[in-house]
Amino acid sequence: MSIAYLNGTYLPLEEARISPLDRGFLFGDGIYEVIPYYNRKPVGFAPHMQRMINGLAALEIKCNKSIDEWRELLDALIAKNDGDNFGVYVHVSRGADTKRFHAYPENVEPTVFAFAFGIKDPEPVDRATVHPYTVSSTQDLRWKRCNIKSTALLGNVMHFQQGYASGNNEILLYNDKNELTEGSSCNAFIVKDGVVITPIEDNQILPGITRRIIIDSLKADGSIPVEERTVTMDEVRNADEIWITSSSKEIAPVVKLDGNPVGNGEVGPVWEAAFRIYTDRKFDF
Ligand code: PDD
Repeated sequence: MSIAYLNGTYLPLEEARISPLDRGFLFGDGIYEVIPYYNRKPVGFAPHMQRMINGLAALEIKCNKSIDEWRELLDALIAKNDGDNFGVYVHVSRGADTKRFHAYPENVEPTVFAFAFGIKDPEPVDRATVHPYTVSSTQDLRWKRCNIKSTALLGNVMHFQQGYASGNNEILLYNDKNELTEGSSCNAFIVKDGVVITPIEDNQILPGITRRIIIDSLKADGSIPVEERTVTMDEVRNADEIWITSSSKEIAPVVKLDGNPVGNGEVGPVWEAAFRIYTDRKFDF
């Protein structure tokens, strides 16, 4: 049975209840995180919770837990659940008012919810046996504050469904200048002539923690060049490799884009080298 956390209490997930007037339910007025734990150890705990603290500040939601307090709360959640590998979902909404009114209410307690779900072992660092992904692509129709990890995910959900309904694992998104932004639930990287390239952090993408760990690990290692810059649709279509990254998929190699092979259609050597570097260093973050 999965044990969840809701507003100060640990309880079976099926018993967790909130008010229908919760602004997370009515407006998507909240911030969330997903933190991976492998062998019960988190990857990127502090940066994940710092991003949540930044998101809460951006929405002026007054939930004043420190990173250490979050660590205690979520480690206690993990301790109450069985298994080795988890995704931990943490969600803070503005809370439940007594009426539906758009302005931020005063004196409402935020709703704090977390639960842990089992995830698979990490993929092998082996291009011959790793699970390859396929993606489609389309114009990015989401809002202009994609840097905020808001629970209002309908734009992302509709794009994900577009990719999923066409038989793909994900969908890559381009802005109105035909520049790559990210995937509907992940960041995106390309590789060209041995160089790893990913769009810069701005309001068009979520500043992914996996993305950051990859960039910082590759820079610290020094054997693979990495660039943060604009990536055009043409560059994506002509890439030697494409990767999509997130806390749940780590670095997933993409072998097909819109039905066409990426590079030679096989998982590339730079993916394997970079995934090894990431795997060796991920618990340092
Ligand atoms: N998704 N971009 C978007 C739009 C995302 O939703 C995510 C993560 C990422 C990658 O961020 P990170 O590396 O910090 O997980 C990028 C999570 C896992 C989700 O919504 O389930």
